[in-house]
Amino acid sequence: MLRRQDHQDDQDHQHLRDLQDRPRPHAETPIDRRHFARLSIASIAAAVAGRSFAASPSSSPPPTAELPGQPPSDGTLRIVHMNDWHVCPERRSVEGSAMAIEAATSGSRRPDLLLTGGDLIFDSFATTRSRAEEQWRLFKELMASSPVRVEHCLGNHDLWGWDREKSGASGDERDYGMQKALDELGLASSWRSFDLGAWHFVVLDSVVSDGGKGYRGRISPPQREWLVADLAANRLPVLVVSHIPILSLTPLTWDRDYDRGDHGRVSGSEMHLDGPALHRLFREDGRVRLCLSGHMHLEDRCEVDGIAYCCDGAVSGAWWKADPDYSLPGFAELELRPDGTFERRIRRTGWVNA
Ligand SMILES: [Fe+2]
Repeated sequence: MLRRQDHQDDQDHQHLRDLQDRPRPHAETPIDRRHFARLSIASIAAAVAGRSFAASPSSSPPPTAELPGQPPSDGTLRIVHMNDWHVCPERRSVEGSAMAIEAATSGSRRPDLLLTGGDLIFDSFATTRSRAEEQWRLFKELMASSPVRVEHCLGNHDLWGWDREKSGASGDERDYGMQKALDELGLASSWRSFDLGAWHFVVLDSVVSDGGKGYRGRISPPQREWLVADLAANRLPVLVVSHIPILSLTPLTWDRDYDRGDHGRVSGSEMHLDGPALHRLFREDGRVRLCLSGHMHLEDRCEVDGIAYCCDGAVSGAWWKADPDYSLPGFAELELRPDGTFERRIRRTGWVNA
């Protein structure tokens, strides 16, 4: 099984392949798929959490509504960043995800926003269309159980078919690549921005092709052009969310051959290749306070020139397996104040991977 010391450029996919290829102990698949198909997400969530979720988003309060018993608002937003769900029919991932939603939304004050952070389904990159669609169905049912507003950021495992050999895609399909995820989630674009409360939110699409069947972390030229204009038109403090970290300390925790000068050799599949350029843009803008990411299934926080870069672990932990080299299932909870300051803490979902 791949470990951090065995790291390769395509670690994320190699890791998934290793996990998929491993014989699964009986205890890891307690729900057979025919039985699973008859269960509703709400019933699974209720079984996990001991309570019921709202049946649909339409019955939920508006995302910034005050809830009964909640202290008067001082304009502080409360959001949760929940990335790397990797939802699939196996590994009890739906139960674990339902527990995560429960943990994130059941406190004395509900979040105003759930940012999903990418890698929403287990894998669509090297997966047949029907298998990808089965995973999307489960993920969308989970999201329908969220009692708060959801905004999606997409990751490398959400785009369909770039590994054509395994996916069976030709590359000529209308929904090849990220378009399938956009169709599934009803999104017009994989990058966008919006204002909520006193903050401006920028959602980036981190994933570009490496020219083969792999990917690299970077924003595309049209996205960069849009981002420059978007930041120039904004006057609010900014939170940026990308799936792949723009800057992160987590790649430096992999064992590398440092005696041979590998200190600076961080792969473009681990961190944005245009990270330094994006950091300069953010620094010059002066309003970007916080950049959130996932992808690494590890947690960190570093600050450069007053801008915080936070990698927020994974809802799935180590892809719904027990592996001490990765974070336990968790998410980030943030309070964003109108003056641009914030508090961030990592919370565990309570789910324990077998
Ligand atoms: Fe992931």
